[in-house]
Amino acid sequence: MSSNSLLSITGGLFLIILIAEHCSAKRKWDYEPLSINTYSSDESKLKFVAKIERVARGEFAIGGTIDFKYTPDSNTMVEAVAHRSISGAESDYKLIPFTIAKQPFPDYMNSHYKDLVIRNLAKCSNLIQFEGKFDGVWPQKVYTLDKCVADSDGFPEMVPEGFYRINFTVTNPVDWGFVLIVKIFNKLM
Ligand SMILES: *[C@@H]1O[C@H](CO)[C@@H](O)[C@H](O)[C@H]1NC(C)=O
Repeated sequence: MSSNSLLSITGGLFLIILIAEHCSAKRKWDYEPLSINTYSSDESKLKFVAKIERVARGEFAIGGTIDFKYTPDSNTMVEAVAHRSISGAESDYKLIPFTIAKQPFPDYMNSHYKDLVIRNLAKCSNLIQFEGKFDGVWPQKVYTLDKCVADSDGFPEMVPEGFYRINFTVTNPVDWGFVLIVKIFNKLM
């Protein structure tokens, strides 16, 4: 065995341990969604309505409906970008590396959707769930999100405080998505 492959095996093991620790660790931050704006270039193909709901004192959730009247395919692209502002002032927003690189819909389903969307939204929505590989068919129907909170794992243990603006976009044949502004703050331990 070359020292190079030994290095990559130990490197890989180290990474697995890091990720395992990362996921079991308790989140040290909390969040408050401040606004969500949805958009669609063609509501006859996709209509998206969302709102922030206060579920208890200091606890907020996201609710809404996504009416899918088209079938996304491999020409449909998914992308997300995020900006962070320390003060919340518009002029302070700077692009941060947390992004979903522009990718075909099936790739998104087999990566972020599986890792984050299902884990966090399965309990509060009728968004599709699958085991193994996505079979390529996204059913046309009305998807409902009811009091969704991101309380699951899959997020980093530490996140710098500030205001985060996440712009999630799906393009072709209809351009739709949302812009979510979330305030992140450290938990009082
Ligand atoms: C969100 O992204 C879309 C597509 O890139 C863009 O057209 C839109 O201006 C963006 N909105 C914001 C608020 O950044």
